Amino acid sequence: MIEQAFQKIYGTAPEVIARSPGRVNLIGEHTDYNDGFVLPAAIDRAIEFGARRRADNVVHAYSIDFQDETEFSLDAIEKDDQHSWSNYLRGVLKFLQEDGHRLAGSDIAFGGNVPREAGLSSSAAVEVGAVALSMKLFNIELGPLEVIRLARRAENEFVNVPCGIMDQFVCALGKRDHALFLDCRDLTYRHVPLSGRVKIVVCDSGVRRALAASEYEIRLRQCRQAVAQLGTTGLAVKSLREIDLTDLEVASHSLTEVLLKRARHVVSENGRVLKAVRDLENGDLESFGKLMIASHESLRDDYEVSCKELDVLVELALKQPGVLGARMTGAGFGGCTVNLVRAGAAQPFAEAVKEGYHNATGLSAEVYVCEASDGALADC
Ligand code: GLA
Repeated sequence: MIEQAFQKIYGTAPEVIARSPGRVNLIGEHTDYNDGFVLPAAIDRAIEFGARRRADNVVHAYSIDFQDETEFSLDAIEKDDQHSWSNYLRGVLKFLQEDGHRLAGSDIAFGGNVPREAGLSSSAAVEVGAVALSMKLFNIELGPLEVIRLARRAENEFVNVPCGIMDQFVCALGKRDHALFLDCRDLTYRHVPLSGRVKIVVCDSGVRRALAASEYEIRLRQCRQAVAQLGTTGLAVKSLREIDLTDLEVASHSLTEVLLKRARHVVSENGRVLKAVRDLENGDLESFGKLMIASHESLRDDYEVSCKELDVLVELALKQPGVLGARMTGAGFGGCTVNLVRAGAAQPFAEAVKEGYHNATGLSAEVYVCEASDGALADC
């Protein structure tokens, strides 16, 4: 598909192509920037890239999704809010050069079917894909962690979104039919097989909240404050990852009510991820589903990052036959829920949730029955 699109835009075939998936997080929400545990999977929705070298120092970028184009020189890569879709690419190219890699001008086209601003990491898909594409086009050799760090740096320091490392990690290193269990403190990971008996069903609420960015930063700060205040009780830790619920209870007097709730979410969520991985490995999908439900409740009540529409989607999901678990996924305040549904029940589930959501809110939900897929580095 990208070959034809590239041909149409530039009149020749691309020299190299790359593909980078979106992701869904099964459990472990708002834990990555707390040095905690996450369990996402790359999905079968992706951004595809095509590129060819040019003789000059200019990058011509074409967005198939926006049907928009822009040009910039490699000599001075600046943020461009007129073509904000290009900033992920700009950031990646800028930092590749800063790291001493020699680039040249290129014609690039990209696009795909990862919904934007839906909490399925379309931005990480573009960043990781842009690194993979550059590696192929300019024969750059990078290890997986270098790719992931560079992609995240583009998001943190160029696009200026203070995300954790989960999204770029799984976009790069996801594996077909597997979830990825990642320890965000030391970045050790392992792939955990997903059972063929269940489907991952993603329901997009259609709600896009500008609020999400500022609330994300507030949560980040609150977690740091909680760590600092716990320190005054003698609980000298670097992150919420290092304590359990008993520690938290003993030291709870040092925290304001809000900080205690935030910390309780992170600490309990880390425990749920560890248990969820064991459940998946033991084939106990019922227990896994219950942990997803508990995760949603904790995100809704303690971390306060859900919204009415996501709660409606989860409530509806839990009434359907064959559902094992349901929760919001991603940063929150809109975007998607993730549901674990028995394979045979996935289609009727999708239809019933769509209809129920429309009746309850007047909004239309998109529903995607997803397969866990390979990350962008699978063919690098
Ligand atoms: C966004 C961020 C991730 C992570 C999630 C919440 O997707 O990009 O790093 O913090 O929110 O779990």
